[in-house]
Amino acid sequence: MKLFVDTGNLKEVEALAALGILDGATTNPSLLAKEGGDARQILRQICRLVQGPVSAEVVATDTAGMLREGRELAAIDEHIVIKVPFTKDGVRACKALASEGHRVNVTLVFSAAQAWLAAKVGAAYVSPFVGRLDDIGATGMDLARQIVDIFQRGRYATELLVASVRHPIHIIEAARMGADVATAPAAVIEQCFRHPLTDIGLERFLKDWEKAQAARV
Ligand code: E4P
Repeated sequence: MKLFVDTGNLKEVEALAALGILDGATTNPSLLAKEGGDARQILRQICRLVQGPVSAEVVATDTAGMLREGRELAAIDEHIVIKVPFTKDGVRACKALASEGHRVNVTLVFSAAQAWLAAKVGAAYVSPFVGRLDDIGATGMDLARQIVDIFQRGRYATELLVASVRHPIHIIEAARMGADVATAPAAVIEQCFRHPLTDIGLERFLKDWEKAQAARV
């Protein structure tokens, strides 16, 4: 399974890219707004650091506006994936942009029917927001599982991108069910590195080694 970072923060992208674990990135208008500055410039830098798919979202809500913005975003860098919301206008825009050869990520997906429709119009990725479903008392990963089933049985080329990830368990469940991608905030990726027994174990190894060295002198 591929790992994307869900952020608009260049320092976070830089640190994770340097670890060699990043396959791509996702952004959204809220994440980019939080950073301030020139969003196009930030997206260009993220593409340079990641050298993989970077989702950039349109803010227009009508098909014509989405097409115009989508083409502008795609012109920023060859790694840009145009992100459109799942609406009827978004579905129309996805179909048109995909037929022009652009990769489209259909976002704000909250049902299997929406994911299936996005796949039908040639989305490269669909993004179910599992954490936001959990937030309202549903089980987000159940939706991801249904989408895996639909895409496998229907042999759709669309990739399942598990989004709105809140903790490492979401990532592990996504990998176990055969999702193509999980996109997670940097803080959640950081949590994946941690285990107290690793820290305790390393400390003990080093202490034992030091003791043995001191005994030799
Ligand atoms: C995905 O592409 C979205 O940017 C993101 O995962 C939304 O997550 P949130 O629910 O934590 O805002």
